[in-house]
Amino acid sequence: MSDKIRLIIDTDPGQDDAAAILMAHGLAKRGLIDFLAITTVAGNVPLARTTENARIICDWAGETGFPVYAGADKPLLRPPLTAEAVHGQTGLGDAVLHAPVCPLQPQHAVPFLIDTLRRAGDNSITLCPIGPLTNIAQMLALAPDTVRAVKNIVLMGGSYFEAGNMTPAAEFNFYCDPHAAQIVLQSGAPVTILPLDVTHKAVITTPRMDALRRLPNANGPRLAALLQSYERYDIQKFGLEGGPLHDPCAVACAVFPELFNGGHCRVDVETQSNLTLGACVVDWRNITGQTPNARWITKVDADRLFEELAESIAILP
Ligand code: RIB
Ligand code: CA
Repeated sequence: MSDKIRLIIDTDPGQDDAAAILMAHGLAKRGLIDFLAITTVAGNVPLARTTENARIICDWAGETGFPVYAGADKPLLRPPLTAEAVHGQTGLGDAVLHAPVCPLQPQHAVPFLIDTLRRAGDNSITLCPIGPLTNIAQMLALAPDTVRAVKNIVLMGGSYFEAGNMTPAAEFNFYCDPHAAQIVLQSGAPVTILPLDVTHKAVITTPRMDALRRLPNANGPRLAALLQSYERYDIQKFGLEGGPLHDPCAVACAVFPELFNGGHCRVDVETQSNLTLGACVVDWRNITGQTPNARWITKVDADRLFEELAESIAILP
């Protein structure tokens, strides 16, 4: 029995999502994971765009038959929220986009996730949500028995020691659908969270982008250009020396957990207050004595992360 993780990415591409998806295809080519499918959700841009972008990114990776399933087109309760100011109107900056060859699967993402986990063995599927958690929350709410098959939910979202990037209190994915985030955290599934607290320590510096630009293939320079166009928002907003590489942190943590560090604690998401909607309350010092429900990641070996990203992109066309 292979000990490779069996990975499904739930995503709202999104330029950093593109990096995460390309990295996952590269990791599969390196024989390090079984990359099973992509499910898409509305987030950075509307669902139609996130879904077409996911298919285009699979074409870029040379995976023109990869299974892509479209999911929720809006949050559970909140009005739709998008981030074209960061990711551009298409969601992939000013990248030249083609009509995707990779087909869209006819089944909705949520029944696909339910059917897949119900057929899977115990603790056998790693879910990697890197957008709003609407699809994952619907899967867990409609079919709580699927928790049995979840090895880990390794997600990008939230913030606590770092200020939010949508409001002073909240990060985009959790602000977009706070109710979904709270459902996932209360589900009993094993959850590992890559918040802004750690992604802001994985910044896209010029030397790291040059390493991508120098790759003798199409995807290295393409990804460097994608990340360069998306990073200026965070540089201006946070005064970082480069844009944070948010979503690939989740994929990398699922595959190389030794590159990351954090603590197990109780995490809850604000769903009532207009002032702090989507904020994470992280009981880092276990003041409440509540049983931890998540691993909260705060540290990363950023050099090794970018080395693994470059090695995974290098194996692509
Ligand atoms: O806050 C960063 C997150 O929001 C990333 O997943 C980015 O792609 C956006 O979805
Ligand atoms: Ca995302």
